[in-house]
Amino acid sequence: MPQIVVVDQSGAERAIDAPTGRTLMEAIRDNGFDELLALCGGCCSCATCHVHVDPAYVDKLPALSEDENDLLDSSDHRNEYSRLSCQVPVTDDLEGLRVTIAQED
Ligand code: FES
Repeated sequence: MPQIVVVDQSGAERAIDAPTGRTLMEAIRDNGFDELLALCGGCCSCATCHVHVDPAYVDKLPALSEDENDLLDSSDHRNEYSRLSCQVPVTDDLEGLRVTIAQED
């Protein structure tokens, strides 16, 4: 189970254990980060699970789908490291990942 560091919207950070086989959104939400709203429950239709990932890990993540890309375009806080965390499966490759919850739109 990889350990990742989650940075909340205030800049506070905490290391959590992220279970493989879940999504990054589930791992963050299940560890009490209520500001990650994840309103659609992981169906890739709300964009409230927006995070910025550590640049060093971008290549370890699956490519964006068209839907994810379109949803991220609706955010004023999108940058080149933006992902919808419900679309990122937790794998052992993510050990040490630092992920920042994006500011709310
Ligand atoms: S939880 Fe809705 S898009 Fe990720």
